[in-house]
Amino acid sequence: MAEQASTRPRLLTGDRPTGPLHLGHLVGSLDARIAAQDSHECFVIVADLHTLTTRPQKKYLDALPANVRDVVLDQLSVGVDPTKTTLYLQSGVPAVYDLSVLLSMLIPKARLEQVTSLKSMAAAAQQGADAMTLGLLGYPVLQAADILMARATLVPVGRDNEEHIDIARELASVFNDLYGEVFPLPQAKLSRTSTLPGVNAGLGGTGTKMSKSLGNAIYLADSEQTVADKLRTVDVDERHADGTSPLLAFAQAFCTTDAADELERDLTAGTLSAGAAHDAVGKAIEGRLGPIRARRAEIAADTGLVEEVLVDGTIRAREVANRTLQDVRAAMGFDPMWAALVEATSKRAQARKRAH
Ligand code: TRP
Repeated sequence: MAEQASTRPRLLTGDRPTGPLHLGHLVGSLDARIAAQDSHECFVIVADLHTLTTRPQKKYLDALPANVRDVVLDQLSVGVDPTKTTLYLQSGVPAVYDLSVLLSMLIPKARLEQVTSLKSMAAAAQQGADAMTLGLLGYPVLQAADILMARATLVPVGRDNEEHIDIARELASVFNDLYGEVFPLPQAKLSRTSTLPGVNAGLGGTGTKMSKSLGNAIYLADSEQTVADKLRTVDVDERHADGTSPLLAFAQAFCTTDAADELERDLTAGTLSAGAAHDAVGKAIEGRLGPIRARRAEIAADTGLVEEVLVDGTIRAREVANRTLQDVRAAMGFDPMWAALVEATSKRAQARKRAH
């Protein structure tokens, strides 16, 4: 199999399908994902099971098929190439549930209770201290199962996921010590780009990072007009608490270095009209989004393509996961135990036959 022949390091990353992807995803993770496709063997998870940790309600499950499709379509539009990257649906890989249960035996509950990202997710989901579900507490264990089932060594994530990768590494190491070397130890690769601010809309505004749940996002699928309208909500003389300009943050992410430097000078001097500043940054963003939008329309018009990519990728992820699970079950003695049970049973059947 090509996958066994590959000598490239294996990388796994991905997202929870909670809605369409935005500019923050583009500069924070999608660009790096695309850049890694030639140097790494890439797996990209659509982590639908993880959405259940805070959103198990039926209405959210009903929205999953559309959200899953959006996340895949967005990634194909920006250049995630399914001939290089395995894009797969987490709930379509049952071995991950098995592995998650086995790993959950190897970590103290108190260790998980220290994870700060889980506390903030619980707070955001209005799960108070007594209402936090076992599933949310186990979020990093399920994520460890994703990573370890693929035997990934590199896991690009945002800072909010760093502790989860620490836990995946701890679990791999505890497992290997107890039962023998099955897992390579995964490392997080934190996204380099500072997170993009939001626009002035929703709960978030420009003071927090761009986020769908805060309502301050520019989506990859937004029209040119919508992008311009949203960008215009970011005032030229607005400043973050640390004195930096949110408009400049957009310029630094999307304009050339020279153009961003010039904008910075002009903003500091107060010599640029708001209209000109918005136009310059808007054009640069459109330079990225225009081709993405065109590609999105092409892919969306090719009926069944998005589905086919996800099905093919999930079947491949299943094969990889099943092989790992076999090694896990062999190392822990489950498969040998079952084989011995079957053998004793068949010997008994043979003896019974001989007796007749
Ligand atoms: N936790 C990631 C998020 O914040 C999604 C995810 C699930 C993931 N499993 C993963 C990321 C494995 C990297 C590797 O959305």
